[in-house]
Amino acid sequence: MILFSRVLSTTILSKCVLACTVACKISGRNVCKKLPRRSLPPTILSEVFAGVKTKTIASADFGQDATAGSDLQRAATFEPLCLKEELLCKVQDPVRDCCHKITIVGAGMVGVAIANAVLFQRISPHIAMVDAFPKKLEGEGMDYNHGSVYLGDPRIEYDTDFCITSNSKVVIIAAGVRQVKGETRLDLVQRNSEILKNIIPTLVSYSPEAVFLLVANPVDILTWVTWKVSGLPVNRVIGSGTHLDSARFRYMIADRIGIAPTSVHATIIGEHGDSQVPLWSGVNVAGVQFRDILPNIGLETDDERWFDVHKQVIKLGPTVRCLKGYSNTAVGLSVADIVQSILTNSQRVIPISTLVQASRLD
Ligand SMILES: NC(=O)c1ccc[n+]([C@@H]2O[C@H](COP(=O)([O-])OP(=O)(O)OC[C@H]3O[C@@H](n4cnc5c(N)ncnc54)[C@H](O)[C@@H]3O)[C@@H](O)[C@H]2O)c1
Repeated sequence: MILFSRVLSTTILSKCVLACTVACKISGRNVCKKLPRRSLPPTILSEVFAGVKTKTIASADFGQDATAGSDLQRAATFEPLCLKEELLCKVQDPVRDCCHKITIVGAGMVGVAIANAVLFQRISPHIAMVDAFPKKLEGEGMDYNHGSVYLGDPRIEYDTDFCITSNSKVVIIAAGVRQVKGETRLDLVQRNSEILKNIIPTLVSYSPEAVFLLVANPVDILTWVTWKVSGLPVNRVIGSGTHLDSARFRYMIADRIGIAPTSVHATIIGEHGDSQVPLWSGVNVAGVQFRDILPNIGLETDDERWFDVHKQVIKLGPTVRCLKGYSNTAVGLSVADIVQSILTNSQRVIPISTLVQASRLD
């Protein structure tokens, strides 16, 4: 709270002063010295203000001595301060990075869906978005900032320079090519590994304490590549794994029996791909195991053909891609869910990509 102005009524001022319980001298421009400064996201207004300030100083320079435009000169000539200076007094430098800062590398369909899910659910108030393609990145970044009024004033940074990612708590990698018709996730490994080899060392140097969360495909292999390239401990490099597949599985089961997906408890483990494994033995609703009712559920001998449900789950990603050109909304929500669990240290159990028997190899 640093908004104090001579134009504010004394009633408002006294309320502010009371609320902040800070002794302020209510005269002159430096009304309040000790109030904490709130870090505002950069907006077009900040540039306008910056421009005004520069202009003021520049115009004062004309035909004046070296002190023209300085506070000293203004005081001597009674030159009015610009609106920003009149309205605000800086009490300390803004805190640059909040402790829940997240970075999203890749402002493509998946990166944007992750940012949407994180921002709309207010999972983090500070996002840094990086992409190699500046035009799209700028468009996305501007679009988010224009909506910040509805999102609780998050700080949204975007740049092709990785320096904006510094001190992130979670770094999400959604940069890379996606498969086109006829390609499998595994076909992407070479191209996306090359991208990782280029970007991971820089990202680690800016956020050495972050958890790295891989989303680009083939996610399980790329998680391993990232771990190798990064030199980070195994527990700080994970992939989005089969969290999305599990959500799809729960939805498909729920749809078949006509209940809410959150009331179906089911997990898929293994590869985020064709070799994934549905844990039929654990599928339950309110603790009632499906296998107790149908002992051969999920097997080829099952007359009710529940195994078809899992076959459909494997095809859901390609089906969505075939219909709309890419898949992004569900994966965005699934990644945001993982991010939230990390940031809140929720102790939840989530099927992610990690190195099996990691503790022995770490
Ligand atoms: N894990 C999952 O469940 C899941 C689900 C869907 C998609 N994916 C994967 O996510 C990845 C992204 O998919 P998409 O649909 O967003 O693709 P996209 O083509 O829309 O976006 C990829 C973005 O990465 C950027 N990029 C490429 N190289 C870069 C670099 N070196 N540095 C910074 N940015 C770079 C591109 O400019 C582009 O904006 C793909 O590999 C896709 O297979 C994973």
